[in-house]
Amino acid sequence: MIIDVPELSLVALVGISGSGKSTFARHHFAPTQVLSSDYFRGLVADDENDQSASADAFDVLHYVAGKRLAAGRLTVVDATNLQTHARAGLVKVAREHDVLPTAIVLDVPESIAWERTESREDRTFGRQVITRMHRDLRRSLKQLSREGFRKIHVLRGVDEIAGAEIRYEKLF
Ligand code: GTP
Ligand code: MG
Repeated sequence: MIIDVPELSLVALVGISGSGKSTFARHHFAPTQVLSSDYFRGLVADDENDQSASADAFDVLHYVAGKRLAAGRLTVVDATNLQTHARAGLVKVAREHDVLPTAIVLDVPESIAWERTESREDRTFGRQVITRMHRDLRRSLKQLSREGFRKIHVLRGVDEIAGAEIRYEKLF
C-alpha cells in the first residue's frame, strides 16, 4: 500500500501500544524527523514511562514540532495519539505553520498488540490498558476527519503495515 504524504506535513502516527508505531517510524523516517513522546518524557523527567510528565513532555514536543515546521521540515509524531485532545495539539501546531496534518493509523488486532507488549521490559501495564486503548482507537477512526486531519491512512493488520511504502507528494 502506498501512503501519500505531503512533502511538508505533520504526520501523526495513531495506534495502541504494541501496534508498532516506533518500529514503523524507524523504518520509514530519519531519526531526527521523528518526535516520540517517550523521548520527550525522558528529556523532562529522566523516565520515558513517567506518565505524570506527559503534559510537560508534549509542551516541549509541540515546541520542537513548530520549529521544525517553520523551517519546512517534515515532522512525524510517534505517540499513541488516541485522544482527541492529544491530536488537537498537533492539528493546532500544523495549522499555525500552514502545513497539512496527516494521520497514519496502525490498526492491529488487540491480541497481537498485547502479545508484543507483554514481552517488553519497558512496558508494565496490564491487558486492560490495551483494551481501553483499542476502544479509543475505534472511536478515533470516526473522528480524525472532523478534527482536521486532511489525509488519513489506515493500515489494517500486520501485513498492510509491513507492506506500506511512503511516497512524498510535491506541494507545488
Ligand atoms: P508504544 O510505544 O508502547 O506505544 O508501542 P509502539 O506502537 O511504538 O510499538 P513498537 O514499535 O515499540 O513495537 C512493539 C513491539 O512489537 C516491539 O518489541 C517490536 O519489536 C514488535 N514489533 C513491531 N512491529 C512488528 C512487526 O511488524 N512484526 C513483529 N513480529 N514484531 C513487531
Ligand atoms: Mg513506541
